[in-house]
Amino acid sequence: MGLFKPSNDAAKKAAAEAALAYVPRGGVIGVGTGSTANCFIDGLADLRNQIAGAVASSEATAQRLRKVGIEVLDLNSVNELLVYVDGADEINPDLHLIKGGGGALTREKIVAAVARQFVCIADDSKCVDILGRFPLPVEVIPMARAYVARELVRLGGSPDLRVGFTTDNGNCILDVHGLEILNPIELEREINQIVGVVTVGLFARRPADVALIGGPSGVRRLTPRP
Ligand code: A5P
Repeated sequence: MGLFKPSNDAAKKAAAEAALAYVPRGGVIGVGTGSTANCFIDGLADLRNQIAGAVASSEATAQRLRKVGIEVLDLNSVNELLVYVDGADEINPDLHLIKGGGGALTREKIVAAVARQFVCIADDSKCVDILGRFPLPVEVIPMARAYVARELVRLGGSPDLRVGFTTDNGNCILDVHGLEILNPIELEREINQIVGVVTVGLFARRPADVALIGGPSGVRRLTPRP
């Protein structure tokens, strides 16, 4: 179970459909996790004969891809991943993201790191000037949970254990409230350095390359501000 988010289905669907133009025909595509990524998978199903397969960022996505007849490949067996398409919980004007509301942040970050182009799809409720209103997910090795929580408090956050949730990697998640993230690249580095942290759901060192944002007047295409 992920964090509760308001639904904006038509806008998510429009953004997901716009991302189909980025699907590398004949190549392998990386596919993210969450309700917006699920809309993308629905559209990708029609293109299944035009791709070589997909790399999934979670078990849930792998299952959904297989269900629509798309072959799921092990990232280690893929030489080149041209495009990764995934949603986000918050997006700032530099296309730095908060991700992990669905708990798949670690595999998402791995696939995003490998992909040549990261296409983020979202409805316009996800766009913010400053990241941090959405609680920042941090995946943690279970035995380090209390220590990491204390360190996150030292950084000014209020971490909450995501109760009853275990990641695909067997770890727990701390959702950090109360952060106003003025320097996402630096905070990502700082949290990554806490012993016991597997991944922080800040995607700033590797931001999205393009964001397709669905809203009442269609889909806007954003690139990081210069
Ligand atoms: C999954 O772990 C997340 O990073 C999702 O990509 C993010 O939470 C967006 O999810 P929705 O598309 O469901 O809003």
